[in-house]
Amino acid sequence: MSILIKNIQQLVQVHEHNTTIVKGSDMKTLPVLENAYLYIVDDTIIEYGVMEDCEGIHAEKIIDATGQIVLPSWCDSHTHLVYAGDRTSEFVDRINGLSYEEISNKGGGILNSAKKLQETSEEELFEQSLKRLNELIAMGTGAVEVKTGYGLTVEAELKMLRVIKRLKQESLATIIPTLLAAHAIPKDYKTNKEAYIKLITEELIPQAAALNITHFIDVFCEKGYFDIEDTETILKAGQAYNLRPKIHVNQFNILGGIALGVKHNALSVDHLEELSSEDIEALKTGDTIPVALPGCSYFLSMNYTKARDIIDAGLPLAIATDYNPGSSPSGNMNFIVSAACVKLKMTPEEAINAATINGAYAMGISSMYGSITRGKKANIIITKPMKHYSEIPYAFAHDPIAHVIINGQLLK
Ligand code: NIG
Ligand code: FE
Repeated sequence: MSILIKNIQQLVQVHEHNTTIVKGSDMKTLPVLENAYLYIVDDTIIEYGVMEDCEGIHAEKIIDATGQIVLPSWCDSHTHLVYAGDRTSEFVDRINGLSYEEISNKGGGILNSAKKLQETSEEELFEQSLKRLNELIAMGTGAVEVKTGYGLTVEAELKMLRVIKRLKQESLATIIPTLLAAHAIPKDYKTNKEAYIKLITEELIPQAAALNITHFIDVFCEKGYFDIEDTETILKAGQAYNLRPKIHVNQFNILGGIALGVKHNALSVDHLEELSSEDIEALKTGDTIPVALPGCSYFLSMNYTKARDIIDAGLPLAIATDYNPGSSPSGNMNFIVSAACVKLKMTPEEAINAATINGAYAMGISSMYGSITRGKKANIIITKPMKHYSEIPYAFAHDPIAHVIINGQLLK
């Protein structure tokens, strides 16, 4: 199947060469072609250019995008979209004065989601997750990382991995599974964390690796969850099975998780609501990309990641939804791009770079996704009529998406 999109007002994030990451002041630049066309064959971007050069290109399907913007689909590099039920009652508890920490200390939070997930059948979990995934696709996301971590038993974690595998098989979206081996300490192990870590390193990781579904390992490195020493033990156990770290760090406290991530060649370190100058220096020494999750800061009314300090230090930055039932129950990347502008003081160019090419980098797929480049996968957003891409973050909480193409197929 071939598709020709014609008369595009702005074709955004056009890279002649196969860019795989954009850093520091380069993030201020978003390469754009005005009055352009884009030509797709099967699942691949074949050609693009200005309309004057479009003559002679024939396609089975022609889309007239007059007055519309075309850009690569969002690359959401951090989600927990496989979960059971919801945590609406905790949301109301927080409005009435309880803190996220207090709720979690009472057995709510991650433990609440784990209980629900353990009691939900694999089929039902798949159905709930597929519905969410389809909603994300309609909102412009074409590639998405999905974590385990609400299992908290070997059996339930493997169930989550199988659900993620099935999503990968049955959806056109690109799915990057991550084993969030250590998300919280289960109730039964409350006074025996070491035994739980042993279960993770000796049973969960080997059994998960044997399924050959994931290449990444995650740990929630945080006070009351897993400290630096625990995190290092788990990362090393994962690395023995070729699982590369992608970790939760610096959400509430600075424990040194960023330096640890860089030391272990983590692909990304995510959250960073708390950030020190030492953390920035550590990031400068490696290829680990920092990932900000402004939806979580919004929903929990807490600090936003200091994106300006990160970008102004010459570093790259990605932004992602952190879609999960407790701290960010929204998978809308359009809102995240807007929140990055409004709350993280990123320019629209920086935010779109962070949500496309850098998001793809944070999943290890930026040689195939995240920009309009010949040979890359055809994951494309066509917006509703607008004059400039800045209107996407400007009209916050509006739906800017008219059509999406995933792997060369027009889905909306
Ligand atoms: O990324 N911080 C750890 N994990 C999730 C939230 C988990 C939850 O509340 O269910 C996060 O914010
Ligand atoms: Fe998360």
